[in-house]
Amino acid sequence: MSNLVVLNASNNNFQGLMPSSFCISSSLLAVLDLTYNQFSGNIPGSLGKCSALRVLKAGHNNLTGQLPDELFNASSLEYLSFPNNGLDGVLDDARITNLRNLSKLHLGGNMLIGKLPDTIGQLTRLEELLMSDNNMSRELPSALSNCTNLVTIDLKGNRFTGELTKVNFSNLINLRTLDVLYNKFTGTIPESIYSCSNLNALRLSGNSLHGQLSPRIVDLKSLSFLSISSNKFTNITNMLRILQNSSSITTLLIGGHNFNGEAMPGDDIIAGFQNLQVLSISGCSLSGKIPFWLSKLKSLKMLFLQKNQLSGPIPAWIKNLELLFYLDISNNRLTGEVPLALMEMPMLKSEKATTDVDPSAFERTVYIARGLQYRKLNAVPKLLNLGNNKLTGVIPKEIGQLKSLNVLNFSMNSLSGEMPLQLCSLTNLQVLDLSSNHLTGEIPLALNKLNFLAEFNVSNNDLKGPIPTGGQFDTFPDSSYERNPKLCRVTVDQLCGSAEPSAVSVLSTEQIDRRVAFWIGFGAFFGVGILHDQLVLSKFRGIMDTMGFNIVL
Ligand SMILES: *[C@@H]1O[C@H](CO)[C@@H](O)[C@H](O)[C@H]1NC(C)=O
Ligand SMILES: *[C@@H]1O[C@H](CO)[C@@H](O)[C@H](O)[C@H]1NC(C)=O
Ligand SMILES: *[C@@H]1O[C@H](CO)[C@@H](O)[C@H](O)[C@H]1NC(C)=O
Ligand SMILES: *[C@@H]1O[C@H](CO)[C@@H](O)[C@H](O)[C@H]1NC(C)=O
Ligand SMILES: *[C@@H]1O[C@H](CO)[C@@H](O)[C@H](O)[C@H]1NC(C)=O
Ligand SMILES: *[C@@H]1O[C@H](CO)[C@@H](O)[C@H](O)[C@H]1NC(C)=O
Repeated sequence: MSNLVVLNASNNNFQGLMPSSFCISSSLLAVLDLTYNQFSGNIPGSLGKCSALRVLKAGHNNLTGQLPDELFNASSLEYLSFPNNGLDGVLDDARITNLRNLSKLHLGGNMLIGKLPDTIGQLTRLEELLMSDNNMSRELPSALSNCTNLVTIDLKGNRFTGELTKVNFSNLINLRTLDVLYNKFTGTIPESIYSCSNLNALRLSGNSLHGQLSPRIVDLKSLSFLSISSNKFTNITNMLRILQNSSSITTLLIGGHNFNGEAMPGDDIIAGFQNLQVLSISGCSLSGKIPFWLSKLKSLKMLFLQKNQLSGPIPAWIKNLELLFYLDISNNRLTGEVPLALMEMPMLKSEKATTDVDPSAFERTVYIARGLQYRKLNAVPKLLNLGNNKLTGVIPKEIGQLKSLNVLNFSMNSLSGEMPLQLCSLTNLQVLDLSSNHLTGEIPLALNKLNFLAEFNVSNNDLKGPIPTGGQFDTFPDSSYERNPKLCRVTVDQLCGSAEPSAVSVLSTEQIDRRVAFWIGFGAFFGVGILHDQLVLSKFRGIMDTMGFNIVL
């Protein structure tokens, strides 16, 4: 095929070595796309002979070894893309400069080591530099400031060190996304960043940056996503006071800080943010109450305040946040009863899908623990997590109104009374955790009608009577019920109360298999991710297990 210009064989199951003879017969080849196949072995150096090659993509294969030296002879390359392979070695300082036309360099998800070469500054047409999830280290080259056409820099998940101030960001006037999540950067946020007037997403979380936030951050008029969680920043009062003046920020993640015993800033200091949709101030050991200024955040959809030392009651105004569908206030010191106002939350009552709400807050992937990510809003469950507080009283029967709730966690409180029958009308429930309370009475048998229930835990209460059977209840492990001495299993040859209670057996492999089968079926039915293999399956379960418990980055 001597006239072949474009070959697109992406999204197939081709195996073996990547073909090496392309440009021997087809010297006109300009586009070669082999993304999403199963090619293995090294990248053939003979691709360097493809003098007309502009686009070379072979991401999501099993390629190994280094980028071959000869490849850099293909000096017409504009788009070089090998993400999610097993490539190793360093980015060659001298050779990369041959690729003067390069505008997209996508090498994320490999095992590259070494530094980002100084010569990268010579690639002045570079628009996308995607090197996430490698093992690269050392300081960033200051020459990166010369790549003035850069729109996206993604360096997350490496071991880069030194100060970000090495780079003069004022020159990068086209920059829209800067993501350095999970590295080892130190120092302060470079002042030069505040000149990037097109910056839309800035993620600095998971580093060792320190200092107070500069008021200049509000100069970033296009900034919609800001995550600075898990660093060493100080003075949350100052931070929130500054940030509330930004009208562009819709997602703000500042959790995972030790603010030296500061209290949650109150209404004397904060008047309210304008357009926030997602707010995380989790894991900051903040004392004080759930502040009233939160009630003014009319666009709020997700609120993460877990792992602080907040005290006092859950405020009734919570029901006025009409778009809120994810509330995690677990692991605090909240007292009082579960307020009826919580049973009035509009998004949890209505079947309105979270997809109906503007998904712009999730243009960026939000990380809720390393390796787990929510990219689309509809992948995020509707959640109410009040676990590990000091709540007392009963579970209100009005709980039955929260028809669209997916995750309900009241565990580790001092709730008493019975499990209300109305729990059985929460037909979208996937996780129900009422463990470690003082609940009495029987487990409503009709709970076995909850077809999507995948996690169920009532352990460590004072429940009595039979454990429901049928439906999902044939799949839960014995640990779901343990430490309820009056609970018993009804089997064919043993009636409830006829033998030693709660001599419950270990989960059989058959039960485990059924449980896994449920998850696969669940995925196929709802298209939740692509649950086609065990890996993805276990990842999805990971999300469920750690839901609303980690620092959001
Ligand atoms: C190759 O085809 C896939 C699937 O149609 C498409 O998504 C991709 O953009 C194409 N590649 C190029 C380089 O045009
Ligand atoms: C191609 O690359 C190799 C190794 O980098 C080099 O020795 C050779 O001279 C180059 N060939 C051409 C035609 O540029
Ligand atoms: C990253 O590189 C360091 C040495 O530079 C090595 O000790 C470490 O094991 C590497 N990590 C991975 C995940 O390959
Ligand atoms: C950064 O670049 C800007 C614009 O080119 C320039 O005015 C400024 O002096 C530079 N800052 C440093 C610290 O080099
Ligand atoms: C926090 O910042 C404010 C300015 O907003 C300042 O008045 C206060 O002294 C700072 N607190 C600490 C502990 O540095
Ligand atoms: C419910 O919350 C408690 C306290 O945070 C936590 O320990 C538990 O793992 C959560 N349950 C589920 C099923 O995630």
